[in-house]
Formats: sequence, C-alpha cells, structure tokens
Amino acid sequence: MEDLVLKSTIHVAQLSELTEAERSLVQQAIDATSRSYAPYSRFHVGAALLLRNGMTFIGCNQENAAFPAGLCAERTALFAAGANYPDQPVVMMAIAARNEQGELLSDPVTPCGTCRQVLIETETRFKHPVRILLYGQRHVYIVDGISKLMPLSFTEF
Ligand code: THU
Repeated sequence: MEDLVLKSTIHVAQLSELTEAERSLVQQAIDATSRSYAPYSRFHVGAALLLRNGMTFIGCNQENAAFPAGLCAERTALFAAGANYPDQPVVMMAIAARNEQGELLSDPVTPCGTCRQVLIETETRFKHPVRILLYGQRHVYIVDGISKLMPLSFTEF
C-alpha cells in the first residue's frame, strides 16, 4: 500500500497586496452581505463574480423556512451569471461574510462543498480557472482554481 499525498497552495495576502480589480471585487462581495436574506442562520454571505467581458454579478444567501429551498451566495451569483451570460467565462470570484453581530469575519469564509462542486463545473464548462478571493478582516486567501479546494473532484461520467 502507498499513500497518495494531496497538496495545495493557497496564498495568504493582505487586502493592500491585491490589485485594484481584486479589491473592487472583494468590496462588492462585502457590500452584497448587506443584501442577504438570512433570517434563520443570521449568517450573511456575499459573493461577487467577474466575467471575462468585464461584467460583475453579485449574489447573497437566500434562506427559506423550508431549509433546503435556500441557496448560498456563491451559487446565487454563479447561476445568475450563467442565466444572463451563458457564454462568458467566470474569471474571478470574491466571497465575504458577516456574523450574527453584523461583523465581517476575521478569518476568510470558505465555500461549502456544493458550491465547490458548482465552481468545478463552471471551470470545466468554460475551460477557464476561477481565481477565488476569500475575504477575512485579518487576511485574504487567494485560491488559484477550485481544484485547490477540491482535489479528486467528480467532473464527468
Ligand atoms: N452559506 C453561503 O451562502 N455560502 C457558503 O459558502 C457557506 C454557507 C450560507 C447558507 C446559509 O444561508 C448560511 O450561510 C448558513 O449556512
């Protein structure tokens, strides 16, 4: 028997180290947290996408009394972009979140497994990696491609 060791590198940056375009996307994700509909969890997540044509799309979590009917911020943004610009690759995505007290998280927020799976499909569909910026007040994680967060992913059958 042998071990298969899976490694991935994530860059840990200060907001000031990001490019202007990256900072702007992070700010849009932060702003989107204020639009979230999260009366049940009171965890407010915002996502912002940049498409190759320069358009941006925001999303925020949308909850429901019947819990599974709700949707995460990331998928809200990804599906809205897919519905409106089905031919445009997603080149970058920023995510931010506020806790119940309305404070931005100090450590970066990370996407759930289902959103990671949808990001895999987005990259596969457009044959383009998505640069993912996970915002925290202390630092930002820069993830170059979703495979860094989801190795051995399921892409085809
Ligand atoms: N949520 C997101 O919107 N994105 C994530 O990556 C993690 C979780 C939402 C779903 C639910 O509305 C709330 O946060 C608590 O799980």
